[in-house]
Amino acid sequence: MIAVCTKCIERNFSKNDLLVKLYGLYYKNIVKNEVKLADIKNCDKVLCIGGGPIPSTAIEVVNLTDANVHVIDMDGDAVACARELVKRMGLNHKIVVGQGRGEDVDLSPYNVIHVALQVSPKEAVLKHIWSNCKMGARIIVRMPKKGLRHFYSNITDGFLERYSDYIRFYSSKFAANTIDKTLLMVKG
Ligand SMILES: C[S@@+](CC[C@H](N)C(=O)[O-])C[C@H]1O[C@@H](n2cnc3c(N)ncnc32)[C@H](O)[C@@H]1O
Repeated sequence: MIAVCTKCIERNFSKNDLLVKLYGLYYKNIVKNEVKLADIKNCDKVLCIGGGPIPSTAIEVVNLTDANVHVIDMDGDAVACARELVKRMGLNHKIVVGQGRGEDVDLSPYNVIHVALQVSPKEAVLKHIWSNCKMGARIIVRMPKKGLRHFYSNITDGFLERYSDYIRFYSSKFAANTIDKTLLMVKG
């Protein structure tokens, strides 16, 4: 339900530059904290999984770090909207948008991998990332607030326990309405 609404809002807003800017405000602090948490630098190759029609996370990562970012989304319409927007913003030399699924994307080029809140099935995506990404890669995963968990695909406690040595959490005092904390995994 939340996923469908968000995609619908993003699709309609993506045509209007002012609405894109306003929508992006929601992500500003979230991404600023994620960039700090994973220490994203200009030299990193970043993959955003689940960019949606407005890839605000990728746009903000570029604004803050000037890193090259690839975005994938499994929905062809979202990819078309995002490509058009990125081109309109003059960011197509920094952001490349493609169609793909987090469960089977080739991870070999990336050392930072970002998983959006609405990505599903989240644990399968995370297992694929962990098994196939480079050593030292940083994986950022947005986790929903407790009361909203049944609206999203979630990571099981078993997974969190199994990989606890590689996991750190970050909680912001000014957390967004939907995000409880951000998980950082470093492949070791
Ligand atoms: C609506 S967006 C929100 C992302 C937001 N615009 C951002 O910048 O972080 C969530 C997107 O994730 C995509 N998605 C969900 N599961 C996915 C998966 N397993 N692989 C790729 N894309 C996925 C959906 O198609 C949807 O477009």
